[in-house]
Amino acid sequence: MENRELVMEALKARKQAYCPYSGFAVGAALLCADGRVFTGCNIENAAYPATNCAERTAIFKAVSEGKTEFRAIAIVGGPKGKEPENFCAPCGVCRQVMAEFCDPETFRIILMNGAGEIRE
Ligand code: THU
Repeated sequence: MENRELVMEALKARKQAYCPYSGFAVGAALLCADGRVFTGCNIENAAYPATNCAERTAIFKAVSEGKTEFRAIAIVGGPKGKEPENFCAPCGVCRQVMAEFCDPETFRIILMNGAGEIRE
């Protein structure tokens, strides 16, 4: 799957973000080794540490469906209700979760900004 296609899936997933506390909406699309794609959005909570980032939502959906081999993840984020402007890089907790399942030599993190530039 092309990077841009995976980014499009992440943009679609971002529409489901539940982010009334930060107002920052994120979408992610995770490509599995078998070609399947799992998407996720951030889901916040009034008890803020209970918030789940978009990346972890996608990874946990995949693991809960029996997938543990991943090739790439696309991530897009920005203020809710607007198109993302800046690159949105994963937080430390999400990186820790990626470290559990993803090969650091080959796993690709794909980001896109508002200008449509892709950073891998
Ligand atoms: N967030 C993500 O979902 N992924 C990221 O890569 C950055 C941060 C979420 C967490 C929180 O709901 C909001 O964005 C603001 O940090």
